[in-house]
Amino acid sequence: MNLIAQNISNELEKTQHEFWNISHQTAEFISMLIKISKVRNVLEIGTSNGYSTLWIADALKDSGLNGHLTTIEYYEKRQCIARENIERCNLSGFVTFKQGKALEIISALDFIPDMVFIDANKSEYIQYFDILKDKLPVGAIILADNVVSHAAKVADFLEEIKNDNRFQSQVLDLPAGLLMALKLS
Ligand SMILES: C[S@@+](CC[C@H](N)C(=O)[O-])C[C@H]1O[C@@H](n2cnc3c(N)ncnc32)[C@H](O)[C@@H]1O
Repeated sequence: MNLIAQNISNELEKTQHEFWNISHQTAEFISMLIKISKVRNVLEIGTSNGYSTLWIADALKDSGLNGHLTTIEYYEKRQCIARENIERCNLSGFVTFKQGKALEIISALDFIPDMVFIDANKSEYIQYFDILKDKLPVGAIILADNVVSHAAKVADFLEEIKNDNRFQSQVLDLPAGLLMALKLS
């Protein structure tokens, strides 16, 4: 990560609780995973002020595979802050911002993601999964944050993904609990 992005990441970590950002550890993990897996088309559901967006876009840049991130946020004000943060990091070329309701936007996506990072309305996780599960290619990765911190709200989603034989999944011991799932068939 370049020095500017590093400084902005450090700056955003000071207001993490205000913007419900993922932990630094989770950001590092997602960044490494993007570089290892060589994904190209990432969908993020839940932008907030762009902390995780910054880490994902930076990892796609480092991968050097011409990857791109599309990120969804309902609140215009948060999206504006996120845009500003990504511009300051010189990562705008790697990110498309979409503002609106996640369920409507992902129902009308004009591309097929090979990685999905779910971090929006916890009670909607199951619906995000239902819309995307058949469309995702084999080898696609799903990440979902807060599966431990908000276990009750995402219980239906966890149950469904665990019972779907096409997906291999594991809850990782990162702050808030991160589910990682791989589409096998
Ligand atoms: C936990 S925060 C995202 C944090 C961000 N991923 C990060 O780590 O920097 C969740 C965000 O999702 C947005 N959100 C929640 N429900 C949504 C929905 N149905 N459609 C679009 N955005 C939604 C919220 O406004 C909030 O900014």
